[in-house]
Amino acid sequence: MAHCGTQFQYGGILSKMKVALFHVGRKLNLINGVKNIILVQRLKRSIMTSQTNMEKALDELKLNPYFEKYAKKISKLQETSPEEFLSKIEAKEREAKAKKEALAQERKFQPASRAKPTLGGSIRRYYSNGSTSNFYVTTPIFYVNAGPHIGHLYSAVLADAVARYNSMLGHSVRLTTGTDEHGNKVQQAAQVSKLPMSDYCSKISLQFHKMCEVFDVGYTEYIRTTQERHLKTLNHFWITLRKKDYIYPGTYSGWYCVPDEAFLSTSQLEDRKNANGETVKVSIESGHPVEWAEEDNYKFRLSVLQNDLKHWLKDENTVRPAKFHKILSEWIEEGSCLEDLSISRPIDRVSWGVPVPDDNTQSIYVWLDALVNYLTALGYPEESYKEFWPPNIQVIGKDILKFHGVYWPAFLIAAGLEPPRSLLCHSHWTVDGQKMSKSKGNVVSPFDAAESYTADGLRYFLLREAVPYSDANYSKEKVFNTVNSELADSLGNLVSRCTGKAVNPGREIPHPGKYVDILKSESATKLKYCLETLHLEARDHYEKNNLHHVVDSVMSTVHAANQMVEFHKPWHLRKQTDDQSYNELQAVLSLALDCTRISGLILYPIVPKLSNNLLELLDVPENERSWANTVPRHLTKSENSVRKVNAESTILFKRIRN
Ligand code: ME8
Ligand code: MG
Repeated sequence: MAHCGTQFQYGGILSKMKVALFHVGRKLNLINGVKNIILVQRLKRSIMTSQTNMEKALDELKLNPYFEKYAKKISKLQETSPEEFLSKIEAKEREAKAKKEALAQERKFQPASRAKPTLGGSIRRYYSNGSTSNFYVTTPIFYVNAGPHIGHLYSAVLADAVARYNSMLGHSVRLTTGTDEHGNKVQQAAQVSKLPMSDYCSKISLQFHKMCEVFDVGYTEYIRTTQERHLKTLNHFWITLRKKDYIYPGTYSGWYCVPDEAFLSTSQLEDRKNANGETVKVSIESGHPVEWAEEDNYKFRLSVLQNDLKHWLKDENTVRPAKFHKILSEWIEEGSCLEDLSISRPIDRVSWGVPVPDDNTQSIYVWLDALVNYLTALGYPEESYKEFWPPNIQVIGKDILKFHGVYWPAFLIAAGLEPPRSLLCHSHWTVDGQKMSKSKGNVVSPFDAAESYTADGLRYFLLREAVPYSDANYSKEKVFNTVNSELADSLGNLVSRCTGKAVNPGREIPHPGKYVDILKSESATKLKYCLETLHLEARDHYEKNNLHHVVDSVMSTVHAANQMVEFHKPWHLRKQTDDQSYNELQAVLSLALDCTRISGLILYPIVPKLSNNLLELLDVPENERSWANTVPRHLTKSENSVRKVNAESTILFKRIRN
């Protein structure tokens, strides 16, 4: 400290150090270094006042397990003049900022600037104070041949979580979902039900609608392909393709699979024995039977679009995760899925469909009909659709990758529209290794499961258990164990032990900024570090759509908080009368409760209801629930006001009984 100027000067420099070092260290991945550097700045008051205090501070620093490793760096920092030191830090900061900006550019992120309200929107969302851009997320629209199961729910809540996360970042978000109601598959199901077609479709569509309500799928548009508005959009889209000469009259002779509503080539088929012992041809991929079709229909010039599709796929992010990008790229490279596609069926074969414009002997192929829903939802061809076009993230299951990864972008390119920026393709939920599907009779009803585990419990399980790139197995025991151990025991318990009367009779939530330097234990240092990095880690995982990792990061921080609480034993501190114990108690409560606040915010996209309850309980104002608020309070300049627990009950999640 030989060059030490006035205390005032140093105070300013050191507070800049705090911010700069934190950022630079983070960017340089000096994870352990950050720990030490944070320690340095926490000890800043001692360092700046006098030589004795500095020595004391250094002695304390030496107790840190990483001291050896960073001793050289620390002593170097002590030697430089404040000016030199600052300019070095600033240079590093600039470098880190440039890197961050480049990264943000790459990910098409822009910093928040201005608030924009969303249009429609049935579910309250958290928005940051600034809005960046419009963001369009979709789910597949589900066939109404049967009611919803866990697989459908998963797609819907995954898309909803993506939408909510982006709202928290400040984007103005549209999320659409709905039902796919045409085609023979639906018609056959209606016949079995003995209901008139439209009553049958409404009945099942209502079940998907209800699923969205029960599970907080905050769609801004719910599309049914039987709606008038969809027919208008579809007609317009067809006519556009025809005007651009992508449609011509042709013939089709080959195999058609009604359950998959797909035309299949012989290489996609195999012979299998059916229940009656007869040999039948089935789709290798789905196992569903096919029927022979020989008919006139309209064809789409898919074969000329190979290069356009390759161009679209050049960006790795077009299809995520990478595994599905690779599969799709191979299909397109190899080209067998790129034969011209039949996009209509004779109306006497498929009467439950939308007639082709100017030719009512044909009905539009159900997949063209269905895919266009993503345009209907934005009011296409009304000019305003452009505000949200193209879709930013379209969530799909791997079973419909070909339709969304080949036909859909091809239709759009042909019509002169931009294809989606990104398909988020997920794998399947299985039961005992078999895909959960109506035809296999192994479905789990989301409504029944919500009765047992609550809607948020089930959302939590689905989003924390599934990984996009491989199948996940559904079992009751797993749901039961996961929600009890993580939501009730880990997070719930942390909340109740810090807000309960035994430890916190005043039910106060002290500001951690005031007490943060008091706790010196290893468990507290670890927790502070976890809290300081949690929002960065979680953001990275959200960006990569790895929601299971988001939950892992939150849970490991919650564990660190519980360990810290156990180490400091607030129930003992509470009984002491001295100031030191009082301050330690306040420090423990404020830090642990800030952990619950941050966890609540970060888990909001995953379990919105539970998060709302938690943030209400913690008295977090609505305008402090955006992603920017996931930074720990002890690092922010917010005022040091005390909040009060805002609920009678401190039980966040009741344990489920088996
Ligand atoms: O294919 N695991 O509708 P669909 C995970 N109407 N997700 C599953 C699943 C499982 N076991 N089973 C279904 C259709 N899904 C068309 C879509 S879009 C323009 C038209 C999810 O009712 C997954 O997203 O068969 C899958 O792609 C979708 O439901 C298929 O639903
Ligand atoms: Mg299906």
